[in-house]
Amino acid sequence: MTFGIAALIFGYLLGSIPFGLLMTRAAGLGDVRKIGSGNIGATNVLRTGNKKLAAITLVLDALKGTAAVVLARLYGPELGLWAGFGAFLGHLFPVWLGFKGGKGVATYLGVLIGLMWQVALIFAVVWLLVALVFRYSSLAALAAAIIVPVALWVQAPIQLAGLFATMSLILFIKHRANIARLLAGAESRIGAKG
Ligand code: G3P
Repeated sequence: MTFGIAALIFGYLLGSIPFGLLMTRAAGLGDVRKIGSGNIGATNVLRTGNKKLAAITLVLDALKGTAAVVLARLYGPELGLWAGFGAFLGHLFPVWLGFKGGKGVATYLGVLIGLMWQVALIFAVVWLLVALVFRYSSLAALAAAIIVPVALWVQAPIQLAGLFATMSLILFIKHRANIARLLAGAESRIGAKG
């Protein structure tokens, strides 16, 4: 348990690095929280019009989740779950930004890659299909976040399914403004500038 808490804190610190904000600032694009949805994730970075920066944000936000899992696992297989959950929470509630972070989609995917890459492929396929058909990043993420716990329930240990069911629930709560906009037909489509 003590090692679990240490892994959670380690994951949290890694996850709390706000790459979207750091990248946009470094590129001279200002504060990404002041444009579009105000989110620090790749979808909102894309609203700056800089596709490359959005792709880098996506990769780094995912990578911090994967790195937390992989590094923690070196000290014990069960520690990956703690560190992965920590990374997800770190992205959502970074102490450096007054606990107002991102919505967690890329980091969720990164943690999943670290813990069960086969299901991460399912996430990616569902996300891409929904995004291609509807062109809403939030809807694609929500659809993938429903499928993942179901897929894990079928083929993974109960702790893993429970962890991702919890993370999906938090992800839905974080997307409540997006859900309201989707229902009102007011959500912005992928690639629309903001
Ligand atoms: O990855 C976050 C995405 O699901 C929604 O982002 O900026 O449209 O709120 P955004």
